[in-house]
Amino acid sequence: MCGIVGYIGKERASTHIYDGLSALEYRGYDSVGISVIDERIHTIKRSGRVNTLKEYLNILEGRIGIGHTRWATHGKPTQINAHPHNCGVFSIVHNGIIENATQIKHNLINNGHTFISQTDTEVMLHLIWDNYNSICSENSANNSTFIDMTVDSSAHCDITEQVTIGQQPNTVMQEGDCCMDPAYLVLLAINRALAQLSGSFAIALLCEHCKDCIFVAKRSAPLLIGLGQDNAVVASDVCALGGGCDNALVLADDCVGAVYIDKVCCYDINMDAVQLTSMSIEHNRVQHIDKQQDYMIMEIGQCPLSIQDTMAGFGQGVDMVSFSRFCRTIDRIMLVGCGTAYHSCVTAKYLIEAMANVSVEVDIASEYRYRNPIMHSKTLFIAVSQSGETADTIFALKLAKKGGLTTMVITNAPTSTITTIADYVFITKCGQEVGVAATKSYCGQLAVFISLALLLARIKLNTDTTSLEQQSALVHAQAKSIIDNQQELKALSNIVADSQSVFYIGRNIDYATALEGSLKLKEITYMHSEGYPAGELKHGTIALISDKSLVIGIVTVKHVADKTMTALHEVKARGAKVLLITCFAQYLQDEVVDYHYLLPYSPSLFMPLLSILPLQLIAYYVAKGKNYDADKPRNLAKSVTVE
Ligand code: AGP
Repeated sequence: MCGIVGYIGKERASTHIYDGLSALEYRGYDSVGISVIDERIHTIKRSGRVNTLKEYLNILEGRIGIGHTRWATHGKPTQINAHPHNCGVFSIVHNGIIENATQIKHNLINNGHTFISQTDTEVMLHLIWDNYNSICSENSANNSTFIDMTVDSSAHCDITEQVTIGQQPNTVMQEGDCCMDPAYLVLLAINRALAQLSGSFAIALLCEHCKDCIFVAKRSAPLLIGLGQDNAVVASDVCALGGGCDNALVLADDCVGAVYIDKVCCYDINMDAVQLTSMSIEHNRVQHIDKQQDYMIMEIGQCPLSIQDTMAGFGQGVDMVSFSRFCRTIDRIMLVGCGTAYHSCVTAKYLIEAMANVSVEVDIASEYRYRNPIMHSKTLFIAVSQSGETADTIFALKLAKKGGLTTMVITNAPTSTITTIADYVFITKCGQEVGVAATKSYCGQLAVFISLALLLARIKLNTDTTSLEQQSALVHAQAKSIIDNQQELKALSNIVADSQSVFYIGRNIDYATALEGSLKLKEITYMHSEGYPAGELKHGTIALISDKSLVIGIVTVKHVADKTMTALHEVKARGAKVLLITCFAQYLQDEVVDYHYLLPYSPSLFMPLLSILPLQLIAYYVAKGKNYDADKPRNLAKSVTVE
């Protein structure tokens, strides 16, 4: 969560930083800020979205700066808690969580530091400042010749005079107080601070003693550096690097670096100089669309193409000979993900077990990583993450690797952190997804799983999958027919919007679709909703059913269709309204059905690709009807980079 960006160049930094923050807004959007440095550091920050800074860009004139868009972890999304945070000669932006911030803050307060925000970031900054002062004192005590440095220890100002700048501790470094390269001293201070911190973080920091560079450091959070012709950019994600760089330099965990316009000086945990690794990047900047249209509806519209392209590109860039050889030996698959990615895993369990007779276990990444899972060498471990940056999923993957498992990832972000860890990387061909609610990426994940299920059926059971493959070529056209006729779903969204609670029920793969349909509704409409296995309702949850409830039954799996219909009778008997979504026309006449939507028919392997589309569209139109921002729902961020 949170996006950070920094720019050094010949042009006004604030404009580039603003563009970078706009691209990173998917990582959090509750407050925003920019610091630039010329003779002094100037900071502007606001609660609210990135565009609240637009009117101030002209007055931030420096050529070097840092910026931040926030998803609050410590402290409310207020202006004071917004980044950058300033202290002494520093200004910092941070993505991550400092887990021992409370203890460190306590110690710093005892040493004379005062804090103005509730953030862990301000604690981190004071710790760096504290270390910097100590290092400078040690250094000046050991040397009699001082270099002349332009230091103005009051050199912070907020141009809008709406932000109180952080108090400085009692010990304040004075002009000319040290003799070593000041940039090295700052790096050393950061390095020492890192040794005292636990948690995950990526930081960018400005220092008034070093007006030609941006300092960076990271641990278990992404940070990329791009060197262009006459600029350098640091950012949480490739999409904020700008078009000028073809390669990104990757900072390793616990390294610290000083980024200049034309070079990067980097040191490892022992302060030994290190070379950065470089990777080529694909620029995938999102086209800004006509703001009459939301990204979410545009991205639902791209589901058919995502299905088609992902199926066609299955295994591209993967050593499929080696992958297939390994798959022949497996007797178990372990799937992990979070949120929508987890729901695609739940769907995959049903698909793979039915098609390939391989036992599949599914877990939520944040549970898997703390439950001491049992690992067998004949297991294929698969982590699923649209962004490739979800902290829990990355840690679960690392745990599986450490346990000796062969690992595969399914992601929509070819240059994300997760791709650097796994043995096999399968990319969903969806293009960048901007709306916080995952839509086309869910279809892409299902498309990979369907292709995998077919592959496993062939190599483990010698199944002739030809006719299914032919069928798969038709699915995207069926998906398109749903998108093209969405008016019917828009009308149904009024029924959903008028309900007090919405229950999505189904069995088998329809249960997985129920989970995902419910998540879509709650995350963008803030309505109470639950996704439930149809057979499980009467073990407790049916107590919630009343005449203010709507129950959406999803019925696409033949052998359990009657059973879900029975559950619909049971809720109807308790006053609920029933909306049936099915590919079996015969159920539409059932007396319990108040409203219905008929899906195109396809073999059940492909039905999850179709049955999710009406649910995504209904959720979207409910949000629109309530005048909510479907692209940026409250309290959420697209990429959850903290646990
Ligand atoms: C989906 O609509 C959500 N925004 C969320 O559940 C998301 O799927 C989850 O945070 C996982 O993200 P990832 O796929 O990028 O790992």
